[in-house]
Amino acid sequence: MKEQLQSILTEAKVEITGVVTMPALQDLKAKYLGKTGIMSELMKGLKDATIEEKKEIGSQVNLAKDELEALFEAQRHHIDNVILEQKLAKETIDVTLPGNGYPRGALHPLHAVIDSIEDLFIGMGYQVEEGPEVESDEMNFEMLNLPKNHPARDMQDSFYITDTTLLRTHTSPVQIRTMLAAKGQPIKIICPGKVYRRDDDDATHSHQFTQIEGLVVDKNISIADLKGTLEVLVRHLFGEEREIRLRPSYFPFTEPSMEVDVSWGNHPDGTTKWMEILGAGMVHPNVLRMSGYDPEDVSGFAFGLGVERIAMLQHHIDDIRHFYINDQRFLDQLKGGKL
Ligand code: FA5
Repeated sequence: MKEQLQSILTEAKVEITGVVTMPALQDLKAKYLGKTGIMSELMKGLKDATIEEKKEIGSQVNLAKDELEALFEAQRHHIDNVILEQKLAKETIDVTLPGNGYPRGALHPLHAVIDSIEDLFIGMGYQVEEGPEVESDEMNFEMLNLPKNHPARDMQDSFYITDTTLLRTHTSPVQIRTMLAAKGQPIKIICPGKVYRRDDDDATHSHQFTQIEGLVVDKNISIADLKGTLEVLVRHLFGEEREIRLRPSYFPFTEPSMEVDVSWGNHPDGTTKWMEILGAGMVHPNVLRMSGYDPEDVSGFAFGLGVERIAMLQHHIDDIRHFYINDQRFLDQLKGGKL
């Protein structure tokens, strides 16, 4: 009997340590220790043995059963640990993996210029006005001292919607709208917005571009005020060392009119290099009168700049069309830039 128990134990040991899942371990336990298992059957086989023999063998069987229980318990622990380890291995976070990047957007360079100029002028007490892009011939031209058939209309050929409605060619009609609404009160505004012209697209011209208009109307406004304001603007945009130069020009809605240049380093011969950035002038008496102001009582200055031109100078951009084709490689280059 002893040998028999020993060989059962040896075989059980091999079987138990080979089991890798809990259900299989349960089945094996039933096979050895269950009601109809190997050990119970062994005891049943002792039916005819003497009491002495039963006692002797019974105690041996019980010892073997205890040993089996211990083996099953040890294997249960082992399987538990293996399952836990597998789970941990699966759930491990590799902190050395690169994270998922979330691409950050940035302001379009034209909007960055507009925001920066708005901030500057709001700081000087200006208000920001807007006007419609579909404008009347009256506002876009006539009220700006450009009657029908005036030759200066050729400088700003437009997209007409009807004979009397067009896509505005500049932001100057907002001057008129603001003056009419202000009914003789002093004005200090800037007005950013899109404008349209029947220009052929090339590296410096676009059929749609962006302007910022400025208008100040009050008593005793002089060219000195205009010049001082433009110096502040130019230094804000391009640096404190910049100078401006006013050159005589012609716009029907200002008198005198001027083109404004900004100093841009030196030519090889040492003379200053100048870049033209905007048109400006003192509001024409006819324009003031048509909009309800008395030119004997008040005066004003106005200016209009091309936003693309400013952004091109700031970032050394060689072609205006880059602003509109939305090439991500172009836009990414300007992220984190000076603007
Ligand atoms: C005007 O549009 C005037 N309204 C400016 C003005 C306002 C003068 C108030 C006096 C008082 P001009 O046509 O020069 O002026 O245009 C102004 C600026 O717009 C130019 O200096 C240039 O930077 C820009 N610009 C003109 N045409 C184009 C174009 N096709 N594409 C891109 N930018 C342009």
